[in-house]
Amino acid sequence: MSNQTVYLNGEYLPLEEARVPVLDRGFIFGDGIYEVVPVYAGVPFRWRHHLARLKRSLAKVGIVNPHDDAGWDHILSEVMRRHDWPDQFVYIQVTRGVARRDHAFPAGVTPTVFAMASELVLPPESARAQGISIITAPDERWLHCDIKSISLLGNVLARQAAVEAGASECVMFRDGFLTEGSASNLWVVRDARLLGAPRDHLILEGIRYGLMEELAQECGIPFELRRIAREEVFAADELLLSSATKEVMPVTTIDGGPVGSGKPGPVWSKIYAAYRRATGRDAPVAG
Ligand SMILES: Cc1ncc(COP(=O)(O)O)c(C=O)c1O
Repeated sequence: MSNQTVYLNGEYLPLEEARVPVLDRGFIFGDGIYEVVPVYAGVPFRWRHHLARLKRSLAKVGIVNPHDDAGWDHILSEVMRRHDWPDQFVYIQVTRGVARRDHAFPAGVTPTVFAMASELVLPPESARAQGISIITAPDERWLHCDIKSISLLGNVLARQAAVEAGASECVMFRDGFLTEGSASNLWVVRDARLLGAPRDHLILEGIRYGLMEELAQECGIPFELRRIAREEVFAADELLLSSATKEVMPVTTIDGGPVGSGKPGPVWSKIYAAYRRATGRDAPVAG
């Protein structure tokens, strides 16, 4: 037993008892969207940003938003408060609903709404001290990566390739330019500047995207979003990886070779310290 209480279509029930019909379009077509919201000391971090992205994803796939903001706030706080973990992450999924199998949108169906809290177990200190390793692969996904879609087969295959290579993440390139990781965004440090791929349909704009920009500004690190060639990634002084559940990690190995000095670098250390302050785990710097 997991002791997790989840939300499903208006009810709170044990995870093991939550069921959806096999004709749910999430199961049949991967027709749905999701969100992952980190929670620190009982407080959701950047929830408004996550909610805005959830609404954007729904609008982009033509699923009518089943709740107003107050309704979403309520679901989030109820699933959170039913668990004791101070640090959690809440997974929210909305599918188009249950209907006879036919590709086109069915009329008059109610979206399926599911939410589940889990303990947020952050990467251990040793992983930050050492840095993580990544592999690279061509980006073979579709062209709407800006939608946080539950259709994740391309991402699943990329992550599996990383696991089989003994690496933490697989970072992808489309036409020779950086897109993102299977479940993360990648940041490149060159000449003390922090670079990221443009906000477009080729990546999922992480909620850490805007945050990285703010943290870079706070740390006095020049920040730029632009197309980044594969050679620039391999010639980087530092690589950083960001996601809701990994925060900001230093990448020290890429395709088996060292990144820069092969050790976590000064830009990562400043940004990570700022991230901890932003999540309320360290006192803000005075002045
Ligand atoms: C494909 C992809 N890109 C980027 C991210 C990072 O997004 P966020 O910072 O909102 O966690 C994720 C997160 O899971 C992801 O799945």
